[in-house]
Amino acid sequence: MNVLLLGSGGREHAFAWKFNQSKKLEKLFVAPGNAGTAEIAENIDLDPNDFPKIKEFALANQVDMVVVGPEDPLVNGIHDFFLADEQIKNIPVIGPEKLGAQLEGSKDFAKEFMFRHDIPTAQYKSITKDNLEEGYQFLETLKAPYVLKADGLAAGKGVLIINDLDEAKTSLKEMLGGMFGEAGSRVVIEEFLSGIELSVFVLTDGKSYKTLAEAKDYKRIGEGDTGLNTGGMGAISPVPFAKGDFMQKVEERVIVPTINGLQKDNIPYKGFVFIGLMNVEGDPYVIEYNVRMGDPETEVILPRVKSDLLDLMEAVSKQELDKADFEMDTRTVTTVMLVSGGYPEDYEKGKAITNLNKVDGSLVFHAGTCNSGSDVLTNGGRVISVSSYGETMEAALALSFKNADLIDYEGKYFRRDIGFDL
Ligand code: AMP
Ligand code: GLY
Repeated sequence: MNVLLLGSGGREHAFAWKFNQSKKLEKLFVAPGNAGTAEIAENIDLDPNDFPKIKEFALANQVDMVVVGPEDPLVNGIHDFFLADEQIKNIPVIGPEKLGAQLEGSKDFAKEFMFRHDIPTAQYKSITKDNLEEGYQFLETLKAPYVLKADGLAAGKGVLIINDLDEAKTSLKEMLGGMFGEAGSRVVIEEFLSGIELSVFVLTDGKSYKTLAEAKDYKRIGEGDTGLNTGGMGAISPVPFAKGDFMQKVEERVIVPTINGLQKDNIPYKGFVFIGLMNVEGDPYVIEYNVRMGDPETEVILPRVKSDLLDLMEAVSKQELDKADFEMDTRTVTTVMLVSGGYPEDYEKGKAITNLNKVDGSLVFHAGTCNSGSDVLTNGGRVISVSSYGETMEAALALSFKNADLIDYEGKYFRRDIGFDL
């Protein structure tokens, strides 16, 4: 098979690494990719949101499958674009159509879906400029802190958690006034849920599903979960507190009704569902859906998938996932993200990365890197993810930290406390 993978982060390098182990893979293209994917696939200078160009490339290169890493091409309708075109409608796309992608693309759509299907989630109210007063009234019924979410995609920045009621009212008005652009023209106000967060990753063909695993990521830049939010500074899978009983509740109360809900609502869905959960005193509540794999969660989940990932992708495209072989490694995998100094605020790019060849015993997934001649340079805020296996979480982390110390570039920073709370 010739596969075209869209995206350029650590997630996509991990996908490329896993696809390379498949006996079915003939040629792997990554668009646009990074210096890591360039070592194991052919990087193509294509924008994942330029659908006509992707079509042209797919036809010229006998692409047999398109796998979509990030959410925006899905929310923009890449799958629908393929299905609507006679020349490419038979090339399977992994990732939901536009309707299903609304689970991530619209918080309001996701909340309505969860309430319709009795999936446990925080109470909420959806507010626009036209019912702002109702928003103020709803805020008054809630206890602090107050959760305000821009309805649309806001590059992970559209959620505010505010302690003071008056401040929450002011922020609500500001969000509706354009603080997050068009994404905030509708705002979802939510009840605050107190607990420990984790995520569960599910692959579905729209009829059946496989639960890959759960993972926990570390979003804040600073140790002890302090400072600004980032895309993710590290991750662990499995999650020690997510034992049989809790995961059974997740399956029964969240995963099954989600997959059944998609069918009842006639929402076609072939792809990954990333379910962000809060463990509230042993009961799971859904915080959000994403319609893709997480980053850096992919860097700990895919190393645990023992089965051939292209077999699984093919089974999804043919709606034969129920018949597919599926096995996960029981070992723990941890990842530690090396970032650029200054991230998630301003940072410099173009720093030479050295000592990558000294890494021993870990997997190195490039996130924001590029090639310049024979050098590998930093090219983003999140630079490299160092993933390790271990019989225990502690052993895996020790290996990730040891190798994270070896890799070098100006301004390197990583959190040394991943897993501290477990
Ligand atoms: P989201 O983009 O919906 O995942 O929200 C971003 C982050 O805000 C989540 O990862 C949580 O840490 C936090 N958050 C979102 N919704 C809630 C909620 N209802 N209660 C508590 N924390 C929340
Ligand atoms: N690590 C969180 C995400 O991928 O959205």
